[in-house]
Amino acid sequence: MNKNTYIAKSYFNYKLKAKGRHSIHSPFLYNMYNTCVVKSEKSQYHNEIEQLRNTLEKDKREIYVNDLGAGSRKNKSNERKICQIAKYSLKSAKEAQFLSCFASITQSKSIIELGCSLGLTSARIALDNPNTYINSIEGCENIAKIAQNNFTKLNISNIKLHIGNFDTVFQKILMDISADLIFVDGNHTKEATLKYFNLAIDNMNPNGYIVFDDIYWSQEMTEAWNTIISDNRVSLSIDLFHFGIISISKDFSKQNFILKF
Ligand SMILES: C[S@@+](CC[C@H](N)C(=O)[O-])C[C@H]1O[C@@H](n2cnc3c(N)ncnc32)[C@H](O)[C@@H]1O
Repeated sequence: MNKNTYIAKSYFNYKLKAKGRHSIHSPFLYNMYNTCVVKSEKSQYHNEIEQLRNTLEKDKREIYVNDLGAGSRKNKSNERKICQIAKYSLKSAKEAQFLSCFASITQSKSIIELGCSLGLTSARIALDNPNTYINSIEGCENIAKIAQNNFTKLNISNIKLHIGNFDTVFQKILMDISADLIFVDGNHTKEATLKYFNLAIDNMNPNGYIVFDDIYWSQEMTEAWNTIISDNRVSLSIDLFHFGIISISKDFSKQNFILKF
């Protein structure tokens, strides 16, 4: 089965199973879902960031991309236009808004993002949550330069951009800080995803959360997600199709939710 058929089939199955807020009994989860999905509101920074996205989506300059991950589905070449990266690699405004709200409602003060790309999602979280500090990792130097430029344009001082491979940089950051929220958005292979999961849960705040992006990007990403949610150390898991969220907190009894997004 090709990847597009796999995603379409997975989306159909997800739509059949996904439930709304009335399926949630935990007051914390209900509040999170209601605030961040059902009643999600645009922040004061929405227009500024979306204008920047618009500009990037029109930028025809080509850069050399050193891809350390599973590659792009749209462009296999290492020469990529900035507009293509902006259109196909970034989380949408709605998804970035959700992550920003999730960071706020879980009072996450220390965030690690694996996969900064052009920086729009981390920018959104950083601007909406000025008391949060984000360590974001990007393996491609040319992409990171544009992200850093975007952070400067947006006057952001609560993001530190690390240029390097997740395989080395992630562990180093985890040795220095106790992350409350980790967003895994790059290197979409089963092996890498499970490696980052194990590294994260051994070193992060035990009451924190991990968000895995693109859990239906491929069959092997869904296998990784299923392995993660059946792990005994994982208590809560939430499938929003675009993201999978987990916690290892003892405050939650083991439960898996599939919720409409
Ligand atoms: C999907 S994009 C991230 C999008 C970003 N989170 C957003 O929503 O704006 C994934 C990024 O991860 C980077 N990446 C993939 N594998 C990597 C690795 N092993 N080490 C460092 N960076 C990697 C890629 O260069 C790419 O820019």
